[in-house]
Amino acid sequence: MSRFYITTAIDYVNSRPHLGTAYEKITADVIARYKRLCGIPTHFLMGNDEFSQNVYRRAKEQGLDPLAYCDRMEEVFRGVWARLDISYDDFIRTTQPRHRTGVTELVRRIRDRGDIFEGFYEGWYCESCEAFKQEKDLIDGLCPIHTTKPEWIKEKNYFFRLSKYEQPLLDFYREHPTFLQPDIRRNEILRLIEGGLEDISVSRAGQLWGIPLPFDAGSVVYVWFDALTNYISAVGYGADEDLFHRWWPANLHVVGKDITRFHCVIWPAMLLSAGLPLPRQVFGHGWVHFKGQKMSKSLGNIIDPLDAVDRFGPDPLRLYLVKEIAYGQDGDFSWERFEERYNVDLANNLGNLVSRIAAMVDRYQKGDLAAVNGAPELLQEVAQQAVADYRTAMDRYALHEAAASAYRIVDVTNEYIAANEPWALARDAANQARLNQVLYNAAEAVRVVGVLLLPIMPRAAAEILTRMGEWRPLGELTLDDGATWTTSRPRRIIKGDALWPRLEEARAVVPKGERPMSVDSPKVPAQSDPDVPPATPPPHAAADSRISIDDFLKVEMRTVKVVAAERVPNSRKLLKLDVDMGTERRTVVAGIADAYEPDALVGKTFIIVANLKPAKLMGVESNGMILAASAEGGRPMLVQVDGDPAPGTRVR
Ligand code: MSP
Repeated sequence: MSRFYITTAIDYVNSRPHLGTAYEKITADVIARYKRLCGIPTHFLMGNDEFSQNVYRRAKEQGLDPLAYCDRMEEVFRGVWARLDISYDDFIRTTQPRHRTGVTELVRRIRDRGDIFEGFYEGWYCESCEAFKQEKDLIDGLCPIHTTKPEWIKEKNYFFRLSKYEQPLLDFYREHPTFLQPDIRRNEILRLIEGGLEDISVSRAGQLWGIPLPFDAGSVVYVWFDALTNYISAVGYGADEDLFHRWWPANLHVVGKDITRFHCVIWPAMLLSAGLPLPRQVFGHGWVHFKGQKMSKSLGNIIDPLDAVDRFGPDPLRLYLVKEIAYGQDGDFSWERFEERYNVDLANNLGNLVSRIAAMVDRYQKGDLAAVNGAPELLQEVAQQAVADYRTAMDRYALHEAAASAYRIVDVTNEYIAANEPWALARDAANQARLNQVLYNAAEAVRVVGVLLLPIMPRAAAEILTRMGEWRPLGELTLDDGATWTTSRPRRIIKGDALWPRLEEARAVVPKGERPMSVDSPKVPAQSDPDVPPATPPPHAAADSRISIDDFLKVEMRTVKVVAAERVPNSRKLLKLDVDMGTERRTVVAGIADAYEPDALVGKTFIIVANLKPAKLMGVESNGMILAASAEGGRPMLVQVDGDPAPGTRVR
């Protein structure tokens, strides 16, 4: 394969990224990094979907020009992706001129083929899905995904002759049985096509927020028709032939299972109509659930991925999402489970193994390992098999199996150390060569693990490689040479701080059989060992009255800058504050009029509780509560921040 072009869905920007949308970007990033590790030139595209009615409404609610709002959201999205170490090569926004060029060209071409015609649409439209809904798809009159009532729409529209592509699509699926993965999604889509395709509306009349139709400036292109085109407009469609031919067709579109039908029915039909090649594959991943429900902004049950990054860095979250959720299926996220896996997989297992090897090499070999020759041992065989399994799994996007293969090496290395007892070998100088060999093999196995984990946990893997004496520059490492078992090089092993300190919280339970081992003992250590968590958590002094970190994180506190302030009419106590929260403007009513003059607050940064239900105070709706220190009956003193954080910064 000469190159790999991978894309994710482009996100609606009516709110910040959440763990569900981040899951998609993380998994696509793992695939992109894996392809690069295989030495394949890779182009990874992500972006924002801006011409949506929800986005338009959100901007207006905040008194912002929609484009200015989208500019702000671009920063928010890119900021989150940077903190999650997402290595995209290009980021497209549907308001960019290059996208408009691509959409205009594609729509024109499809019309020239006779596949766009004028008609009249009447029916239900769900603004959250940005999709027309058939009566039979509604549950109790509500959209089944968003549980909101769709709007009844009646307007002149242009239609795309989707029905014409029913048979060509069926033929295509027969000829390309692996086009849509996993297989279960393919069956869903085949049933849908076999059930009959109707022509679809591809324009919205009388709207300003969108790309005008090239042949009727009074209408804009339907947001999905527009959004799907991003995959070609980003690589120069309609503008740069060379670029377009270098990357198109894409090798893989990574999208959520809720939008596979757009990518596997409408998008291929659009391309067939335009006479363009179809993408090679679509992967429809499952949903991240929170407490059994799809995490979604409209359901209001979202988790901010940055909460996990702030506490642990990006790698533990990346590993959890990749290893714990079978790719293609739905999976659940809870803080309890996440912390449990952190302790088991990272603190007690991989992190502990890296520390033990480095500590033993330091203690017994002064940090240096000599090259080894001798018959290959079982550890090497198992590691080489795990590398082969890892490749097979990655190549078919079974990311969870790939992670499990890497972990198999970790487990076998632990067993190898326990069986070969380096601490016992060290007692007799006659064993020096064998001791070196055992430690060398263990370090080599963990180095190979580091290579395999590069796509999944890029930072930690790089650190592990450095500590285990990888001699090549990491940027030049490929899977072929990096994962090849090598014993011919002397190497220096580096000791460092614990990669993942254990969580000692009461609920961070260490499952039986997965307890850590100390540096030189194969036994489960005594509870008094300061390096090891006790088998049972210590009782808290006042356990009942304490809250968990989950409880605390439910309270979303953010910094805000006061834009305007005034007294609430007829109230002695209340001030009405207009505050800037980065992605939105809000009104907050505060009982501080006794203590503060409104003008003195403008331009200052305070903290609000941002996820309180709105409350009406003297007829004014308050959307948040400003934090103040106040003794019983005393004057409130507003809480200020040390420094100048951007409005909307999370306070923890
Ligand atoms: N803008 C459209 C996509 C257009 S692509 C040409 C859209 N945007 S979205 O913001 O609603 O969703 C972006 C992606 O995140 C979609 O692939 C969607 O399936 C995915 N997810 C949204 N919530 C999710 C979970 N709870 N779990 C996993 N993925 C989730 O749809």
